[in-house]
Parts: sequence; structure tokens; C-alpha cells
Amino acid sequence: MNKIDFSGLEKLSKEEKYKTIIPQISSLVQGEKNLIANLANVVSVLKYTFDYYLWVGFYFVDPESKSELVVGPFQGKVACARLKTGSGVCGTAVIKKETIVAEDVNAFPGHIFCDADSRSEIVVPVIKNGEVVAVLDIDSGSYSAFDKEDRKYLEEIINNVINIF
Ligand code: SME
Repeated sequence: MNKIDFSGLEKLSKEEKYKTIIPQISSLVQGEKNLIANLANVVSVLKYTFDYYLWVGFYFVDPESKSELVVGPFQGKVACARLKTGSGVCGTAVIKKETIVAEDVNAFPGHIFCDADSRSEIVVPVIKNGEVVAVLDIDSGSYSAFDKEDRKYLEEIINNVINIF
């Protein structure tokens, strides 16, 4: 089994942390074909690397009911099992097919609180053959926690490092 070494990570800048974990995630997922196993490990790596992450996980577009998202592997408090596509931060990322950053979740129309301590959020869609099949959702307990570096490296992880579906 591949092990991720978290020692010394706390001294690195945010960008250096992303640059360190991306090859580690790549090697972790290359050794395993099962999607759920890989996504479970990816959210664990992210949660234990970034201390400003409150909740990190995947929601899948339900193949049986495409107007709904259903929760997948995550780290954090118990989450809403299902969300509607088109509302909230996750549902908006599905409709717009683009990364959404909510600097202040209270100001985001239709935002859905799964954890009352959430203050800001980033949602990166997973697009396959032009359709959103899942989203990576990350909440922080601080306002404006996610910037262009988070967006760049999270999109890289989603689009180029892990093979989702
Ligand atoms: N806040 C999300 C719901 C999911 S939880 O944050 C885990 C939203 O508004 O879509």
C-alpha cells in the first residue's frame, strides 16, 4: 500500500502543499482500480493536508434521477445525503458546468447548510463527455478560504490526476 507522509507538510505554503500531494495522489490511485476506494483516499489526503478544510467530499449525479446529487466518499460531519441539481453551491456548479467559489456561504442564493460552521465553499465539477457526473465539494470554517490556487490545483486533481468514471 502506498503511504502518504504528512510530516513536514505544515511548514509548506499552500501551493507547495498542493504540489507535494498531487504526485502522491497520482501514485495512490494508480495502484487501485476501484473508484470509491480511490475517492475515499483522495478526500482523506486533502482533509489531512489542509487545516482550513472543514468538510471535503464528492457528490455524484444520481444516474437514476439526474435532478439529484447523492453523497459519496467524504471527510467531515454527517452530510445531506441528497441535493437538488440547480440549487445551492453544488447544484449550481452542475448547471453551470464550472467551478463555483462562495466567499461567504450566507450570501450565496439557495446555499444548503450541512454543517452550521461552514463559512465559505468551493465546488469543482467532474465533467465526462460534456456532462457533469459528480462534484468535489469543500467547505471551510473561515470566510474567503479558497483562492485561485485552490481552484487551479483542485481542478488539476479532478481533471488530470484522478480518473473518475
Ligand atoms: N453547501 C452545499 C451542500 C453540501 S454540504 O456543504 C456538504 C450546497 O449548498 O450545495
